[in-house]
Amino acid sequence: MEMIENYKNDFIAYLNEKIKVNEPVNLYEPIHYILQLGGKRLRPILTLMTCEFFNENPKKAFDAALAIEVFHNFTLIHDDIMDSAPIRRGKQTVHEKWDVNTGILSGDAMMIMAYKCFENYEPAIFKKLMLLFNKTSLEVCEGQQLDMDFETRNDVSIPEYLNMITYKTSVLVAAAMKMGAIIANADENEAEAIYNFGLNLGIAFQLQDDYLDTFGDVAVFGKQIGGDIAENKKTFLYLKALEVCKENDKKKLLDFYTTNLNSKNKIEEVTQLFTRNRLKEITIKEIELYTNKAFNVLESLSISKEKKGILKNFGLSLMKRTI
Ligand code: IPE
Ligand code: IPE
Ligand code: MG
Ligand code: MG
Ligand code: MG
Repeated sequence: MEMIENYKNDFIAYLNEKIKVNEPVNLYEPIHYILQLGGKRLRPILTLMTCEFFNENPKKAFDAALAIEVFHNFTLIHDDIMDSAPIRRGKQTVHEKWDVNTGILSGDAMMIMAYKCFENYEPAIFKKLMLLFNKTSLEVCEGQQLDMDFETRNDVSIPEYLNMITYKTSVLVAAAMKMGAIIANADENEAEAIYNFGLNLGIAFQLQDDYLDTFGDVAVFGKQIGGDIAENKKTFLYLKALEVCKENDKKKLLDFYTTNLNSKNKIEEVTQLFTRNRLKEITIKEIELYTNKAFNVLESLSISKEKKGILKNFGLSLMKRTI
């Protein structure tokens, strides 16, 4: 785990060097604010680690890692507007601290800044990174739109949900890893396998995010607890509950998600309903399932046993996260 901390610290040092507050301050301050709020830095860590695992100096992946992190934080600003979220990483969200218009424009600027990060890669690598980034960022938008569309639908299936989270979350985790492989000039098949590892890990990651949104601790998770319930999000917990609940609870749940009831009461009641129907345990099983799928993909990689072990430990640590 010390290795992970090193990647994280090196990345943060690079980010601090690159991200400065320029004029106009009302555009750049929110960007600086969100990027300095912390976060796990999961995606850049994965980019650097993958690059090194395919035998290239991880410093070469700094710019791609920065692009991914800036892009990720841009999506968070806009996501918090879309989800009416008051807090992120334990602090006010950008649209709360400033306003919605500031959040929109600072987010837009971050998207462009993310593109700029790729400018110094040599043409062959640049092209590959660009193709992947374009594909991924559009997919994230598609996933976010599906997430919004599902709020007002009452016939969402679990396969549809899995497709939605693959797009809104997993493809970026997968691309973060594949970029490391591209920069290291890894074999095409290896780059694809590491992408698939990231894809499954990303699904487990979003399932865990859904879990923590209901069962997490606000002081640790840093986001409002019950936000997904308040917003009628079709999370794994909700969709699975509809499958496993008896008629009474099923009706209750459907009612809660179609009427505009007092949201504190709604959050409490739905949380209790999830708990008594064992949604905690069921969701943990599902997280394990996708983490194990990711581990199975690892087997096909030609990297050393030791490196596979590090990736596995990282996956296991994500499964235990509370933040
Ligand atoms: C939050 O991502 C958005 C999701 C895709 C669940 P993270 O949980 O990686 O957020 P930070 O960057 O660590 O705050
Ligand atoms: C966010 O999903 C995915 C993206 C930001 C693209 P969520 O809406 O669940 O993320 P959080 O929980 O607000 O971090
Ligand atoms: Mg959100
Ligand atoms: Mg969202
Ligand atoms: Mg969430």
